[in-house]
Amino acid sequence: MESLTFQNSYIICVISVAVILGSLAECRVQTSKLASFDYPAINCRKHSAVLTDFGAVGDGKTSNTKAFNSAISKLSQYSNDGGAQLIVPPGKWLTGSFNLTSHFTLFLQKDAVILASQDESEWPQLPILPSYGRGRDAPKGRYSSLIFGTNLTDVIITGNNGTIDGQGSSWWKKFKSGELKLTRPYMIELMYSDQIQISHLTLINSPTWFVHPIYSSNIIVNGLTILAPVDSPNTDGINPDSSTNVRIEDNYIVSGDDCIAIKSGWDEYGIKVGKPSQHIIIRRLTCISPDSAMIALGSEMSGGIQDVRAEDITAITTESAVRIKSAIGRGAFVKDIFVKGMNLNTMKYVFWMTGTYGDHPDKGFDPRALPKVSGINYRDVTAKNVTFAGKLEGISNDPFTGICVSNVTIEMSEQRSKKKLPWNCTDVAGVSSNVSPQPCELLPVKKDKLDCAYPTDKLPIENVQFKSCSFKSSAF
Ligand SMILES: *[C@@H]1O[C@H](CO)[C@@H](O)[C@H](O)[C@H]1NC(C)=O
Ligand SMILES: *[C@@H]1O[C@H](CO)[C@@H](O)[C@H](O)[C@H]1NC(C)=O
Ligand SMILES: *[C@@H]1O[C@H](CO)[C@@H](O)[C@H](O)[C@H]1NC(C)=O
Ligand SMILES: *[C@@H]1O[C@H](CO)[C@@H](O)[C@H](O)[C@H]1NC(C)=O
Ligand SMILES: *[C@@H]1O[C@H](CO)[C@@H](O)[C@H](O)[C@H]1NC(C)=O
Ligand SMILES: *[C@@H]1O[C@H](CO)[C@@H](O)[C@H](O)[C@H]1NC(C)=O
Repeated sequence: MESLTFQNSYIICVISVAVILGSLAECRVQTSKLASFDYPAINCRKHSAVLTDFGAVGDGKTSNTKAFNSAISKLSQYSNDGGAQLIVPPGKWLTGSFNLTSHFTLFLQKDAVILASQDESEWPQLPILPSYGRGRDAPKGRYSSLIFGTNLTDVIITGNNGTIDGQGSSWWKKFKSGELKLTRPYMIELMYSDQIQISHLTLINSPTWFVHPIYSSNIIVNGLTILAPVDSPNTDGINPDSSTNVRIEDNYIVSGDDCIAIKSGWDEYGIKVGKPSQHIIIRRLTCISPDSAMIALGSEMSGGIQDVRAEDITAITTESAVRIKSAIGRGAFVKDIFVKGMNLNTMKYVFWMTGTYGDHPDKGFDPRALPKVSGINYRDVTAKNVTFAGKLEGISNDPFTGICVSNVTIEMSEQRSKKKLPWNCTDVAGVSSNVSPQPCELLPVKKDKLDCAYPTDKLPIENVQFKSCSFKSSAF
């Protein structure tokens, strides 16, 4: 841990006492000057600006879309001259969608809130993602995410736990009533980008997914508090999609959908683009999501998913822990998945794999495109208040193989019907060791004690160090 010193802007309150007709307290709020501060980041910047330099008004009502756009467009001129940071000071900064630039840091101070506009004209339209072939909510285009970037290098969104509020409820209503003609905006999306840091922020109420890096590499997502109502539609927390070298650490997520979902495109479109999600490490995640997974792999996995490592993760009420979802027509693979150290409380399924998820972009999927699921390792798990230990369902003629489960203690919930078996396995093959309750016969117990594999090497992204960067106020 770096030691951080954050000094925030301050408000000066002057009490003046008038003697005429009793006392009147007058409290004058002065526009604060920003003090200097330090923060951890993968890269520091030579140039700085404050959002208010561009005419922004932090009253929660005035649209600041122009201010964000002109600030970032101005600062983009420093991309090849040491880069620039834009400081968002305390206040409520209403804005529509805006685009980031390279060698750039967006820094939200404590008590800075970026509020997403609910005016649809503030959201430009983007083409559908090539690996999906259609929008998730509607077949045609999609709205740009609140914070968007494409073809960038070295981009940082961070702060001293400032907030980005997607004001999602109006979008959720429109989605539920089938009113949407375009797919809802994500909160943060970066496409075709390299060297990304998203950290130390509170993200609330995204219209749909919160953090979506796609076709990108060398990504660190850490220290986020992500909050959405547990009944909000598709509010996935962090979704690495067709992305490589991803480190997701120390995040706390409460969501209406998967806390983390690793994806790589949908059926024939994902197969054609062929970009896997790979070399991903997730550690120290805490997740609450009663109707979804703590970590989902898929269901869109048609570019392949491989080398995913998850360790030291905690679920407090989820539907499942690490869930693999796929279907006939997806093609590609989910392989070399390693999970070590899960502490789970209250869930329907500890181990859940589904080969019949269905859900296709259109009728053009290839029924011969079978996903290959193999090399799935889980070890060191304790779980309480569980309805089913495992539901492992491969595909007939396409079994999920190389499943390993070791050192697992599951306490079944008292309410569950005694007639229902804790494990139900079909079309899978693997082994188990030291697992209670005793697994299904498709995971035979190894006589000699066995620990399921977990890599001992480090991913390159784990070696990336944070520097101590600073903002120096010119006012003092
Ligand atoms: C952001 O970038 C996208 C893609 O390049 C573009 O379509 C959109 O108009 C840009 N938005 C703004 C506000 O410049
Ligand atoms: C962004 O990168 C992708 C992939 O390299 C490329 O196809 C696309 O044309 C680029 N877009 C822009 C706006 O440069
Ligand atoms: C950030 O703010 C959220 C929401 O107020 C809070 O729950 C969380 O503990 C804060 N995180 C840090 C590191 O201060
Ligand atoms: C078994 O798993 C628990 C955590 O659930 C861990 O504390 C313990 O060290 C593991 N035992 C072995 C032999 O790895
Ligand atoms: C156990 O799980 C059930 C749901 O299956 C939940 O209603 C109950 O509160 C949980 N009990 C404890 C002690 O967590
Ligand atoms: C086990 O799972 C299979 C496949 O999902 C299902 O058809 C079957 O009914 C289940 N068996 C039990 C005993 O629940």
